[in-house]
Amino acid sequence: MAGKTAVIFYSSTGNTEAMAEAAAVGARKSGAEVLLAPVVDVDAETIGTQYDCILLGCSAWGVEVIEESQMRPFTEKLKPFLKGKRMGVFGSCGWSRGAWLNSWEAELHFAGGIFPVRPVLAYGYPDEEALGKCEALGKAVAEAPQE
Ligand SMILES: Cc1cc2nc3c(=O)[nH]c(=O)nc-3n(C[C@H](O)[C@H](O)[C@H](O)COP(=O)(O)O)c2cc1C
Repeated sequence: MAGKTAVIFYSSTGNTEAMAEAAAVGARKSGAEVLLAPVVDVDAETIGTQYDCILLGCSAWGVEVIEESQMRPFTEKLKPFLKGKRMGVFGSCGWSRGAWLNSWEAELHFAGGIFPVRPVLAYGYPDEEALGKCEALGKAVAEAPQE
């Protein structure tokens, strides 16, 4: 059975938001109950305690890091709740090869998250291929078996 799924994102111009919407479409196709929300609108403890599957999206900031005033503190507050959560990360960037997503995935995995699919990256506004990958990511995470 698909797990209750949260798709939480930070997006300054709408690029990662479009990816989040595609991930939510994919999760809903698996039959999951899905929350789609900007990170500023949610509380980490609520997300960590009430959702089985958590997809996080954030564009690349600073020098290859996640956004630091909203998504970084949310990530830190979420970590104590991640043991056994099925997770996925995605985001848009300008020129990166994905370092910010890979390091984010690694720290979330170290905190206990399980990642059935590798991070999904887009350049600027996501093209059809990237949106398709986000939809597949959302579906795969929502359908991943509980370990
Ligand atoms: C302050 C700032 C820092 C950025 N740092 C990076 C970076 O390190 N690597 C990168 O590839 N893109 C970087 N970008 C580009 C954004 O990640 C890119 O424009 C992205 O598509 C924005 O997506 P969003 O609308 O979802 O926020 C940066 C942009 C800004 C404004």
